Amino acid sequence: MNMLMERLSLSKPVVQAPMAGGLATPQLAAAVSNQGGLGGLASGYLTPEELKRQIEETKKLTEAPFQVNLFIPEKRETVSDEQLAAWQKKLPLSQPLAPMSTEEEDWSDFYEKIDIIFKANLSVCSFTFGLPPLDAVKKLKGRNCCLIGTAVSVEEAILLEERGMDFIVVQGSEAGGHRGAFLPTKGEGSVGLMALIPQVTDHVSIPVIAAGGIFDKRGVKAAFALGAEGVQLGTSFLTCKESGASPLYKQKLLEAIETDTRLTKLFSGKPARGIVNQWMKDRQNDEQDTLPYPYQNTLTKSMRKKAQLEKNPDNMSLWCGQGVRAAARETTVKELFEQLIPATVI
Ligand SMILES: Cc1cc2nc3c(=O)[nH]c(=O)nc-3n(C[C@H](O)[C@H](O)[C@H](O)COP(=O)(O)O)c2cc1C
Repeated sequence: MNMLMERLSLSKPVVQAPMAGGLATPQLAAAVSNQGGLGGLASGYLTPEELKRQIEETKKLTEAPFQVNLFIPEKRETVSDEQLAAWQKKLPLSQPLAPMSTEEEDWSDFYEKIDIIFKANLSVCSFTFGLPPLDAVKKLKGRNCCLIGTAVSVEEAILLEERGMDFIVVQGSEAGGHRGAFLPTKGEGSVGLMALIPQVTDHVSIPVIAAGGIFDKRGVKAAFALGAEGVQLGTSFLTCKESGASPLYKQKLLEAIETDTRLTKLFSGKPARGIVNQWMKDRQNDEQDTLPYPYQNTLTKSMRKKAQLEKNPDNMSLWCGQGVRAAARETTVKELFEQLIPATVI
């Protein structure tokens, strides 16, 4: 048993990626925690009320620890009405623009969620897209809550350790979904997990959790050999029965192979890895002109929602990592765990 497993009371060094957008359900989080891994809820696109309900539901399904993940609000860049209107014309159907929150509203939402995690007495909280503010760190640590930050480079990992994180998720460029980057390169200079783990572990003293492209025992062994104490998987959990991915999304994941994905800013304004679909092909030349997050994200929201309702994969964001070929059929969380844990790491 290593330090990560001991601190988080885990019998298996596996963290289920907290995946925003209705994917990390209470059922998924609880099933993972009940297997001895760390299950997690993703609060990124939830209202504080929705988060509260999901925590209550998860607590009914497991007595084991689980985590909640928070987005660190972005500093807003200025975007003109003309820029927004020009992008609106590029959407497949003229859509009404979803309401845009302000930076102040995002911070108020963040602190409400910190309060919910504090009052629910959760033992783990993780962050992506930045450094959590010191007052939030102090508040949660006062309750003995373990804190996890996300880094895509050595520099980010060092800053997260200095900010008081207990663990760092080191996210390689193979990873599905958004890159958790927060320093100026914003994840553009993407580094693969094999190069990243040993370079990060050489520069920080807290345990590292490896994320990106891991799907079976071999990946877990490799991550441990390079210095990680745990692994975080997203894509592999999406095709579990307990995940909130729609049947169409699951079908696309089961059909996809390792070369079918790429990083794109088209859906949200931040680099994220997903299956290349028609929208990504059509708008490939606009990749460098996307609006900054959260503008681009809000702009494409109606298109993505409509595509979901109409079961049209051409306009959906089909986030997934480069290990996707390994997902050959829908499994249960229990079955996935059976293929994940090499005897040598626990
Ligand atoms: C659909 C999807 C949604 C994600 N949402 C989040 C999120 O809300 N917060 C977060 O910290 N990471 C998120 N991630 C990234 C994961 O934490 C993790 O880095 C990644 O899934 C690991 O790579 P893999 O997908 O190849 O296993 C998401 C990943 C996916 C695939």
